[in-house]
Amino acid sequence: MTILVTGGAGYIGSHTCLALLEQGYDVVAVDNFCNSSPESLRRVEELTGKKVPLYELDVRDEAALKAVFARHDISCVIHFAGLKAVGESVQLPLNYYENNLLSTMTLLRVMDGAGVKNIIFSSSATVYSTENTMPLTETGRLGCSNPYGWTKFMCEEIITDWVKAKADWSAVLLRYFNPVGAHPSGRMGEAPNGIPNNLMPFITQTACGVRKELVIFGDDYPTPDGTCVRDYIHVMDLAEGHVAAIEYAAKHKGTEVFNLGTGTGYSVLDMVKAFEEVNHLSLPHRIGPRRAGDIAQCYANPSKSRELLHWTAKRTLKDMCADAWHWQQQNPRGYDA
Ligand code: NAD
Ligand code: UFG
Repeated sequence: MTILVTGGAGYIGSHTCLALLEQGYDVVAVDNFCNSSPESLRRVEELTGKKVPLYELDVRDEAALKAVFARHDISCVIHFAGLKAVGESVQLPLNYYENNLLSTMTLLRVMDGAGVKNIIFSSSATVYSTENTMPLTETGRLGCSNPYGWTKFMCEEIITDWVKAKADWSAVLLRYFNPVGAHPSGRMGEAPNGIPNNLMPFITQTACGVRKELVIFGDDYPTPDGTCVRDYIHVMDLAEGHVAAIEYAAKHKGTEVFNLGTGTGYSVLDMVKAFEEVNHLSLPHRIGPRRAGDIAQCYANPSKSRELLHWTAKRTLKDMCADAWHWQQQNPRGYDA
Protein backbone atom coordinates (compact mmCIF):
# COMPACT_ATOMS: atom_id res chain seq x y z
CA MET A 1 0.00 0.00 0.00
CA THR A 2 1.51 3.34 -1.09
CA ILE A 3 1.03 6.54 0.89
CA LEU A 4 1.67 9.96 -0.66
CA VAL A 5 3.13 12.35 1.92
CA THR A 6 2.97 16.06 1.07
CA GLY A 7 5.52 18.12 2.98
CA GLY A 8 7.34 14.83 3.47
CA ALA A 9 10.76 16.45 3.94
CA GLY A 10 9.54 18.57 6.88
CA TYR A 11 9.90 17.86 10.58
CA ILE A 12 6.77 15.80 11.22
CA GLY A 13 6.53 14.55 7.62
CA SER A 14 9.99 12.98 7.60
CA HIS A 15 9.45 11.20 10.94
CA THR A 16 6.09 9.96 9.66
CA CYS A 17 7.68 8.63 6.46
CA LEU A 18 10.05 6.64 8.65
CA ALA A 19 7.20 5.26 10.81
CA LEU A 20 5.23 4.29 7.68
CA LEU A 21 8.19 2.46 6.14
CA GLU A 22 8.79 0.63 9.43
CA GLN A 23 5.17 -0.56 9.34
CA GLY A 24 5.57 -1.93 5.82
CA TYR A 25 3.95 0.89 3.81
CA ASP A 26 5.56 2.27 0.66
CA VAL A 27 5.99 6.03 0.69
CA VAL A 28 6.13 8.69 -2.02
CA ALA A 29 6.96 12.22 -0.89
CA VAL A 30 6.46 15.65 -2.43
CA ASP A 31 7.87 18.91 -1.09
CA ASN A 32 8.92 22.31 -2.44
CA PHE A 33 11.62 22.60 0.29
CA CYS A 34 10.45 26.10 1.29
CA ASN A 35 11.10 25.05 4.90
CA SER A 36 13.11 21.84 4.63
CA SER A 37 15.86 19.98 2.85
CA PRO A 38 15.89 16.69 0.90
CA GLU A 39 18.58 15.51 3.33
CA SER A 40 15.87 14.58 5.89
CA LEU A 41 14.46 11.96 3.54
CA ARG A 42 17.93 10.76 2.56
CA ARG A 43 18.36 9.98 6.26
CA VAL A 44 15.02 8.18 6.35
CA GLU A 45 16.38 5.98 3.56
CA GLU A 46 19.63 5.51 5.47
CA LEU A 47 17.80 4.44 8.66
CA THR A 48 15.23 2.17 7.01
CA GLY A 49 17.25 0.82 4.07
CA LYS A 50 14.22 1.63 1.88
CA LYS A 51 13.76 4.08 -1.00
CA VAL A 52 11.46 7.11 -0.82
CA PRO A 53 10.67 8.56 -4.26
CA LEU A 54 10.80 12.32 -3.67
CA TYR A 55 9.39 14.96 -6.04
CA GLU A 56 10.32 18.61 -5.74
CA LEU A 57 7.05 20.40 -6.46
CA ASP A 58 4.59 22.86 -5.04
CA VAL A 59 1.32 21.17 -4.10
CA ARG A 60 -0.49 24.07 -5.78
CA ASP A 61 1.04 22.99 -9.11
CA GLU A 62 -1.84 20.82 -10.32
CA ALA A 63 -0.08 19.43 -13.40
CA ALA A 64 3.02 18.41 -11.45
CA LEU A 65 0.92 16.78 -8.74
CA LYS A 66 -1.20 14.92 -11.31
CA ALA A 67 1.97 13.47 -12.81
CA VAL A 68 2.93 11.99 -9.41
CA PHE A 69 -0.50 10.37 -9.02
CA ALA A 70 -0.18 8.99 -12.56
CA ARG A 71 3.20 7.37 -11.76
CA HIS A 72 2.29 5.74 -8.45
CA ASP A 73 -0.59 3.59 -7.24
CA ILE A 74 -1.50 5.77 -4.25
CA SER A 75 -4.03 4.56 -1.65
CA CYS A 76 -4.02 7.43 0.82
CA VAL A 77 -2.53 10.92 1.22
CA ILE A 78 -1.11 12.52 4.35
CA HIS A 79 -1.17 16.28 3.82
CA PHE A 80 1.53 18.00 5.90
CA ALA A 81 2.55 20.65 3.33
CA GLY A 82 1.88 24.11 4.65
CA LEU A 83 3.36 27.20 6.23
CA LYS A 84 3.31 27.06 10.03
CA ALA A 85 4.84 30.11 11.73
CA VAL A 86 2.18 31.92 13.75
CA GLY A 87 4.02 35.28 13.92
CA GLU A 88 4.90 35.26 10.22
CA SER A 89 1.25 34.56 9.39
CA VAL A 90 0.28 37.81 11.11
CA GLN A 91 2.83 39.72 8.97
CA LEU A 92 2.13 37.85 5.70
CA PRO A 93 -1.49 36.64 5.92
CA LEU A 94 -2.02 36.32 2.15
CA ASN A 95 1.01 34.00 1.84
CA TYR A 96 -0.57 31.77 4.47
CA TYR A 97 -4.08 31.76 2.99
CA GLU A 98 -2.73 31.24 -0.54
CA ASN A 99 -0.32 28.47 0.33
CA ASN A 100 -2.32 26.52 2.88
CA LEU A 101 -5.79 26.80 1.31
CA LEU A 102 -4.83 26.48 -2.36
CA SER A 103 -2.54 23.51 -1.72
CA THR A 104 -5.36 21.71 0.10
CA MET A 105 -7.94 22.45 -2.62
CA THR A 106 -5.57 21.48 -5.45
CA LEU A 107 -4.72 18.26 -3.67
CA LEU A 108 -8.40 17.31 -3.21
CA ARG A 109 -9.11 17.91 -6.93
CA VAL A 110 -6.12 15.87 -8.04
CA MET A 111 -7.00 13.07 -5.63
CA ASP A 112 -10.53 13.08 -7.03
CA GLY A 113 -9.27 12.83 -10.60
CA ALA A 114 -7.00 9.94 -9.63
CA GLY A 115 -9.71 8.11 -7.66
CA VAL A 116 -7.83 8.38 -4.33
CA LYS A 117 -10.36 8.83 -1.53
CA ASN A 118 -8.52 8.78 1.78
CA ILE A 119 -6.84 11.84 3.29
CA ILE A 120 -5.17 12.52 6.63
CA PHE A 121 -4.82 16.24 7.37
CA SER A 122 -2.39 18.04 9.71
CA SER A 123 -4.47 20.33 11.83
CA SER A 124 -3.57 21.94 15.11
CA ALA A 125 -4.76 22.55 18.65
CA THR A 126 -4.63 26.19 17.63
CA VAL A 127 -8.12 25.80 16.08
CA TYR A 128 -9.64 25.61 19.58
CA SER A 129 -11.06 28.83 20.97
CA THR A 130 -9.35 30.19 24.08
CA GLU A 131 -12.73 30.05 25.84
CA ASN A 132 -12.61 26.26 26.32
CA THR A 133 -11.74 24.67 29.62
CA MET A 134 -8.88 22.15 29.78
CA PRO A 135 -8.40 19.40 28.80
CA LEU A 136 -9.58 20.05 25.24
CA THR A 137 -11.95 17.55 23.65
CA GLU A 138 -12.66 17.38 19.92
CA THR A 139 -16.12 18.87 20.49
CA GLY A 140 -14.63 22.02 22.04
CA ARG A 141 -15.55 25.42 20.69
CA LEU A 142 -13.47 26.50 17.67
CA GLY A 143 -12.00 29.92 16.93
CA CYS A 144 -8.54 31.25 16.11
CA SER A 145 -6.46 34.29 16.92
CA ASN A 146 -4.09 34.43 13.92
CA PRO A 147 -4.14 33.76 10.14
CA TYR A 148 -2.18 30.50 10.49
CA GLY A 149 -4.84 29.13 12.83
CA TRP A 150 -7.62 30.24 10.50
CA THR A 151 -5.97 28.41 7.58
CA LYS A 152 -6.14 25.19 9.62
CA PHE A 153 -9.75 25.92 10.61
CA MET A 154 -10.70 26.64 6.97
CA CYS A 155 -8.90 23.58 5.61
CA GLU A 156 -10.81 21.45 8.14
CA GLU A 157 -14.04 23.00 6.82
CA ILE A 158 -13.07 22.57 3.15
CA ILE A 159 -12.17 18.92 3.64
CA THR A 160 -15.31 18.23 5.69
CA ASP A 161 -17.59 19.81 3.04
CA TRP A 162 -15.80 17.99 0.26
CA VAL A 163 -16.14 14.64 1.99
CA LYS A 164 -19.85 15.31 2.65
CA ALA A 165 -20.31 15.82 -1.08
CA LYS A 166 -18.47 12.57 -1.87
CA ALA A 167 -20.18 9.77 -0.04
CA ASP A 168 -17.31 7.28 -0.37
CA TRP A 169 -14.42 9.47 0.86
CA SER A 170 -12.69 9.25 4.21
CA ALA A 171 -10.89 12.13 5.97
CA VAL A 172 -9.09 12.14 9.30
CA LEU A 173 -8.32 15.57 10.75
CA LEU A 174 -5.51 15.37 13.31
CA ARG A 175 -5.16 18.23 15.79
CA TYR A 176 -1.58 18.16 17.04
CA PHE A 177 -0.56 19.61 20.36
CA ASN A 178 3.14 20.55 20.78
CA PRO A 179 5.43 18.21 18.80
CA VAL A 180 8.99 18.02 20.16
CA GLY A 181 11.92 15.62 20.19
CA ALA A 182 13.59 13.67 17.44
CA HIS A 183 14.27 10.16 16.20
CA PRO A 184 16.37 8.41 18.88
CA SER A 185 19.17 7.71 16.37
CA GLY A 186 20.09 11.40 16.40
CA ARG A 187 20.02 11.33 12.57
CA MET A 188 16.65 13.09 12.19
CA GLY A 189 15.06 15.99 14.04
CA GLU A 190 13.69 19.49 13.89
CA ALA A 191 15.75 21.95 11.82
CA PRO A 192 14.07 25.36 11.99
CA ASN A 193 15.28 28.18 9.74
CA GLY A 194 16.78 31.14 11.60
CA ILE A 195 15.89 31.92 15.21
CA PRO A 196 13.47 29.26 16.49
CA ASN A 197 10.00 30.40 17.57
CA ASN A 198 9.27 27.19 19.42
CA LEU A 199 10.45 26.32 22.89
CA MET A 200 12.32 23.03 22.41
CA PRO A 201 14.57 24.07 19.49
CA PHE A 202 15.32 27.27 21.39
CA ILE A 203 16.31 25.21 24.43
CA THR A 204 18.57 22.88 22.44
CA GLN A 205 20.23 25.75 20.56
CA THR A 206 20.84 27.54 23.87
CA ALA A 207 22.28 24.39 25.42
CA CYS A 208 24.80 24.04 22.60
CA GLY A 209 25.76 27.71 22.67
CA VAL A 210 24.17 28.86 19.39
CA ARG A 211 21.86 31.10 21.49
CA LYS A 212 22.98 32.99 24.59
CA GLU A 213 20.01 32.28 26.84
CA LEU A 214 16.40 31.15 26.84
CA VAL A 215 13.92 33.90 27.66
CA ILE A 216 10.84 32.46 29.35
CA PHE A 217 7.85 34.44 28.13
CA GLY A 218 6.15 35.41 31.38
CA ASP A 219 5.85 33.88 34.85
CA ASP A 220 2.64 35.57 35.93
CA TYR A 221 0.12 33.22 34.29
CA PRO A 222 -2.55 31.50 36.41
CA THR A 223 -0.64 28.18 36.38
CA PRO A 224 1.11 26.32 39.25
CA ASP A 225 4.52 28.00 38.66
CA GLY A 226 3.30 31.02 36.66
CA THR A 227 4.72 29.86 33.30
CA CYS A 228 2.57 28.57 30.42
CA VAL A 229 1.50 24.93 30.30
CA ARG A 230 1.50 22.89 27.06
CA ASP A 231 0.96 19.30 25.98
CA TYR A 232 4.36 18.33 24.54
CA ILE A 233 4.27 15.18 22.43
CA HIS A 234 7.23 13.20 21.09
CA VAL A 235 7.40 13.47 17.29
CA MET A 236 7.71 9.67 16.95
CA ASP A 237 4.45 9.21 18.91
CA LEU A 238 2.87 11.76 16.60
CA ALA A 239 4.25 9.91 13.57
CA GLU A 240 2.74 6.65 14.82
CA GLY A 241 -0.59 8.46 15.28
CA HIS A 242 -0.60 8.95 11.50
CA VAL A 243 -0.12 5.24 10.89
CA ALA A 244 -3.14 4.62 13.16
CA ALA A 245 -5.11 7.26 11.24
CA ILE A 246 -4.41 5.53 7.91
CA GLU A 247 -5.72 2.29 9.32
CA TYR A 248 -8.82 4.09 10.62
CA ALA A 249 -9.45 5.85 7.27
CA ALA A 250 -9.22 2.56 5.41
CA LYS A 251 -12.16 1.20 7.46
CA HIS A 252 -14.42 4.28 7.85
CA LYS A 253 -16.18 6.74 5.58
CA GLY A 254 -16.81 10.42 6.31
CA THR A 255 -14.75 12.89 8.34
CA GLU A 256 -13.45 12.32 11.85
CA VAL A 257 -11.33 14.61 14.00
CA PHE A 258 -8.83 13.53 16.65
CA ASN A 259 -6.56 15.20 19.17
CA LEU A 260 -2.98 13.95 19.10
CA GLY A 261 -1.58 14.87 22.50
CA THR A 262 -0.49 13.07 25.66
CA GLY A 263 -3.10 14.57 27.97
CA THR A 264 -0.41 15.88 30.32
CA GLY A 265 0.55 19.52 30.54
CA TYR A 266 4.05 20.71 31.46
CA SER A 267 5.06 24.28 32.20
CA VAL A 268 7.97 26.06 30.54
CA LEU A 269 9.91 25.76 33.82
CA ASP A 270 9.09 22.02 33.96
CA MET A 271 10.62 21.71 30.50
CA VAL A 272 13.76 23.62 31.45
CA LYS A 273 14.22 21.53 34.62
CA ALA A 274 13.60 18.23 32.83
CA PHE A 275 16.02 19.14 30.04
CA GLU A 276 18.74 20.06 32.56
CA GLU A 277 18.25 16.90 34.64
CA VAL A 278 18.00 14.43 31.77
CA ASN A 279 20.99 15.84 29.90
CA HIS A 280 23.14 16.77 32.94
CA LEU A 281 23.67 20.39 32.00
CA SER A 282 22.69 23.85 33.06
CA LEU A 283 20.59 25.96 30.73
CA PRO A 284 21.06 29.75 30.85
CA HIS A 285 17.58 31.24 31.19
CA ARG A 286 15.74 34.24 32.53
CA ILE A 287 12.16 35.39 32.86
CA GLY A 288 11.05 37.98 30.28
CA PRO A 289 7.73 39.60 29.39
CA ARG A 290 4.76 37.65 28.09
CA ARG A 291 4.65 36.89 24.34
CA ALA A 292 1.60 38.36 22.58
CA GLY A 293 -1.03 35.75 21.79
CA ASP A 294 0.10 33.06 24.27
CA ILE A 295 -2.54 31.39 26.40
CA ALA A 296 -1.93 30.13 29.94
CA GLN A 297 -2.72 26.46 29.37
CA CYS A 298 -3.34 24.10 26.46
CA TYR A 299 -3.55 20.33 26.79
CA ALA A 300 -5.54 17.53 25.23
CA ASN A 301 -8.06 15.02 26.28
CA PRO A 302 -6.69 12.17 24.11
CA SER A 303 -9.37 9.58 24.96
CA LYS A 304 -11.09 9.64 21.56
CA SER A 305 -7.79 8.79 19.83
CA ARG A 306 -7.18 6.03 22.37
CA GLU A 307 -10.63 4.51 21.85
CA LEU A 308 -11.09 4.87 18.08
CA LEU A 309 -7.56 5.04 16.68
CA HIS A 310 -6.21 2.59 19.29
CA TRP A 311 -3.29 4.99 19.61
CA THR A 312 -1.73 6.49 22.69
CA ALA A 313 1.48 8.48 23.20
CA LYS A 314 4.09 6.20 24.81
CA ARG A 315 7.25 8.27 25.07
CA THR A 316 8.05 10.26 28.21
CA LEU A 317 9.21 13.81 28.83
CA LYS A 318 12.63 12.29 29.48
CA ASP A 319 12.62 10.74 25.98
CA MET A 320 11.60 14.07 24.43
CA CYS A 321 14.44 15.94 26.17
CA ALA A 322 17.08 13.26 25.56
CA ASP A 323 16.23 12.74 21.88
CA ALA A 324 16.00 16.48 21.11
CA TRP A 325 19.43 17.01 22.68
CA HIS A 326 20.98 13.98 20.96
CA TRP A 327 19.82 15.34 17.56
CA GLN A 328 21.09 18.87 18.31
CA GLN A 329 24.50 17.63 19.42
CA GLN A 330 24.94 15.42 16.35
CA ASN A 331 23.63 18.12 13.99
CA PRO A 332 24.40 21.56 15.41
CA ARG A 333 23.52 23.15 12.04
CA GLY A 334 20.53 20.92 11.33
CA TYR A 335 20.66 19.15 7.99
CA ASP A 336 22.94 21.76 6.40
CA ALA A 337 26.14 20.52 7.97
P1 NAD B 1 7.64 21.82 8.40
O1 NAD B 1 7.71 23.23 7.94
O2 NAD B 1 8.87 21.18 8.91
O3 NAD B 1 7.01 20.90 7.26
C1 NAD B 1 6.13 21.39 6.27
C2 NAD B 1 6.70 20.98 4.92
O4 NAD B 1 5.81 21.42 3.89
C3 NAD B 1 8.06 21.63 4.65
O5 NAD B 1 8.96 20.62 4.24
C4 NAD B 1 7.79 22.63 3.52
O6 NAD B 1 8.91 22.78 2.68
C5 NAD B 1 6.60 21.97 2.83
N1 NAD B 1 5.69 22.88 2.10
C6 NAD B 1 5.08 24.00 2.54
N2 NAD B 1 4.27 24.49 1.58
C7 NAD B 1 4.37 23.66 0.51
C8 NAD B 1 3.76 23.62 -0.77
N3 NAD B 1 2.88 24.56 -1.17
N4 NAD B 1 4.08 22.62 -1.60
C9 NAD B 1 4.97 21.67 -1.23
N5 NAD B 1 5.57 21.65 -0.03
C10 NAD B 1 5.26 22.63 0.83
O7 NAD B 1 6.48 21.76 9.51
P2 NAD B 1 6.06 20.57 10.48
O8 NAD B 1 6.33 21.00 11.86
O9 NAD B 1 6.60 19.27 9.98
O10 NAD B 1 4.48 20.62 10.28
C11 NAD B 1 3.81 19.79 9.37
C12 NAD B 1 2.34 20.16 9.36
O11 NAD B 1 1.82 20.05 10.68
C13 NAD B 1 2.08 21.60 8.92
O12 NAD B 1 0.90 21.63 8.14
C14 NAD B 1 1.86 22.33 10.23
O13 NAD B 1 1.04 23.46 10.07
C15 NAD B 1 1.20 21.26 11.07
N6 NAD B 1 1.37 21.46 12.51
C16 NAD B 1 2.63 21.60 13.03
C17 NAD B 1 2.79 21.84 14.40
C18 NAD B 1 4.15 22.05 15.00
O14 NAD B 1 4.24 22.59 16.11
N7 NAD B 1 5.23 21.63 14.36
C19 NAD B 1 1.66 21.90 15.24
C20 NAD B 1 0.41 21.73 14.68
C21 NAD B 1 0.28 21.50 13.31
N1 UFG C 1 8.34 29.88 25.04
C1 UFG C 1 9.24 30.60 25.81
N2 UFG C 1 10.40 31.01 25.23
C2 UFG C 1 10.71 30.74 23.93
C3 UFG C 1 9.77 30.00 23.15
C4 UFG C 1 8.60 29.60 23.74
O1 UFG C 1 9.00 30.86 26.98
O2 UFG C 1 11.77 31.17 23.47
C5 UFG C 1 7.09 29.42 25.67
C6 UFG C 1 5.86 30.03 25.01
O3 UFG C 1 5.56 31.28 25.58
C7 UFG C 1 4.81 28.97 25.32
C8 UFG C 1 5.60 27.66 25.32
O4 UFG C 1 6.97 28.03 25.47
O5 UFG C 1 4.31 29.17 26.60
C9 UFG C 1 5.44 26.88 24.04
O6 UFG C 1 5.69 27.76 22.95
P1 UFG C 1 5.85 27.23 21.45
O7 UFG C 1 6.12 28.44 20.61
O8 UFG C 1 6.85 26.13 21.39
O9 UFG C 1 4.45 26.58 21.13
P2 UFG C 1 2.97 27.18 21.13
O10 UFG C 1 2.19 26.43 22.16
O11 UFG C 1 2.98 28.66 21.22
O12 UFG C 1 2.46 26.79 19.65
C10 UFG C 1 2.74 25.52 19.05
C11 UFG C 1 2.96 25.70 17.56
C12 UFG C 1 1.68 26.13 16.89
C13 UFG C 1 0.60 25.13 17.21
C14 UFG C 1 0.44 24.97 18.70
C15 UFG C 1 -0.53 23.83 18.96
O13 UFG C 1 3.98 26.67 17.32
O14 UFG C 1 1.86 26.16 15.49
O15 UFG C 1 1.69 24.63 19.29
O16 UFG C 1 -0.77 23.70 20.31
F1 UFG C 1 -0.56 25.56 16.68
